Amino acid sequence: MVIFGASGDLTKRKLVPALYELYAENRLPQEFSVIGIGRTAYDDEAFRNYISKQTEKFISSSDHEKTNIDGFISHLYYLAMDPAKADGYSLLDSRLKELAGGGQSDHLLYYLATPPSLYGVIPVHLKEAGLNGPHTRIIVEKPFGYDLESARALNAVYSSAFEERQIYRIDHFLGKETAQNILALRFANGIFEPLWNRNYIDYVEVTAVENLGIEQRGGFYDGTGALRDMVQNHLIQLVALTAMEPPAVFNADSFRNEVVKVYESLAPLTEEDLNEHIVRGQYTAAGNKKGYREESNIPANSRTETYIAMKLGIDNWRWSGVPFYIRTGKQMPTKVTEIVVHFKKTPHQMFRGKEETQYSSMNKLILRLQPNEGIVLKFGMKVPGPGFDVKQVMMDFSYKELGGAPVGDAYARLIEDCIQGDPTLFTRSDAVEASWKFFDPILQYWKERDDAPLYGYPVGTWGPLESEAMMNEHGAEWTNPCKNLTNTDEYCEL
Ligand SMILES: NC(=O)c1ccc[n+]([C@@H]2O[C@H](COP(=O)([O-])OP(=O)(O)OC[C@H]3O[C@@H](n4cnc5c(N)ncnc54)[C@H](OP(=O)(O)O)[C@@H]3O)[C@@H](O)[C@H]2O)c1
Repeated sequence: MVIFGASGDLTKRKLVPALYELYAENRLPQEFSVIGIGRTAYDDEAFRNYISKQTEKFISSSDHEKTNIDGFISHLYYLAMDPAKADGYSLLDSRLKELAGGGQSDHLLYYLATPPSLYGVIPVHLKEAGLNGPHTRIIVEKPFGYDLESARALNAVYSSAFEERQIYRIDHFLGKETAQNILALRFANGIFEPLWNRNYIDYVEVTAVENLGIEQRGGFYDGTGALRDMVQNHLIQLVALTAMEPPAVFNADSFRNEVVKVYESLAPLTEEDLNEHIVRGQYTAAGNKKGYREESNIPANSRTETYIAMKLGIDNWRWSGVPFYIRTGKQMPTKVTEIVVHFKKTPHQMFRGKEETQYSSMNKLILRLQPNEGIVLKFGMKVPGPGFDVKQVMMDFSYKELGGAPVGDAYARLIEDCIQGDPTLFTRSDAVEASWKFFDPILQYWKERDDAPLYGYPVGTWGPLESEAMMNEHGAEWTNPCKNLTNTDEYCEL
């Protein structure tokens, strides 16, 4: 495995722990080597020392011997080169031959963990150096493109150097057990699918928010924003898992075909949608917390969105007329990723329902992806005593209760899938383009219209009030979970 950008943040925080998890559980091949690449002037020993220090953060010292950390580290190597320049690739070729015992092995996995500006350069150099043989695979980090045009250009570069079956566009959201569990819930059970359509579902919410700001990533974030960072990839994938048709068989092509069909069925955004069904926000100072424009490396007049909420329509037989409301934001009251499916109200209300508001029915299914992963079904029951007051109660399942095996890391799962040649949970070129095709008009609209609204929201709140208004207009309201989501029974709402 060759990691480009091996001296960086992703490698130390995610890739090394994931590889170590695979190693400790004997899920890597007996014979393997990992070559880290970067401009930083490490040699093998210095790189091993650096990684060794990082591992101390995720493996307790008492477990070191038990888990054979030294055994893992002995598989690591380093090559100092600038991946942007062609001349280093002959060195890489020699190093690979050396590690393969003198011969040429093209059972190689490249992992691109560099800044995105190098995503289009490295495959070209690999091809020129003849390092793109039929057994090689390449994992590319997000973001894959900046808009539709750049995503298309990037796809063209990759397809000129590799076949689609060799290209693994990673999005760690799909590596999460709980994302995959949406499919199991829908397609391994007979009771949900008959209700999973426009006849019984009123609307769907998809929320992925966090209670942190942009931390030290100002330079990166200001050129990106929430739409590119979260919506175009993560949120839309969750929409696809919720809305897709059951694949005829569960393999990579059938699954990914159904994902693309959802993207292609997204109702194109009209002028009215762009004006009224997209709410863009930016966090403002509150208490001792800085506003976005006060963060380091952020221009004082920045119009980059740290929050976005929007309404999507899916124009197909199953979903016509059912709005999907999606939102993501930074500096929200809590960190949570969940999908809430709202079932329609009973046609006639005989009982007084305390929790049944003008908007929502008694019945909701909450699929929580993080934290305290699990599923909750809400329904009405009679309050004991006289009269017929009905109260909303819930049945919940916590993923932790499934027993035994800890929930594995998303990166470990995805790297292992790639080693085994299974691209199911990676994004195919047509899906990237279909997604960008849908979202690109929003970026264009914001670019062309300086006066397109950008609402402020104080740190620690649930975003601009306009996003509530957007939903109320359609007879819907956001489900805002508790701030403190540490216990498994905390599926309450504010
Ligand atoms: N960090 C995360 O949690 C995370 C999560 C999801 C996706 N990603 C994506 O993964 C990629 C890597 O993320 P990261 O946070 O690890 O990035 P990073 O720390 O900024 O960069 C990774 C490495 O790339 C090398 N590099 C930087 N600029 C370069 C240049 N101009 N030319 C050649 N090499 C350069 C640097 O190594 P040398 O100086 O040694 O060359 C650096 O250590 C990014 O594209 C990011 O969007 C990151």
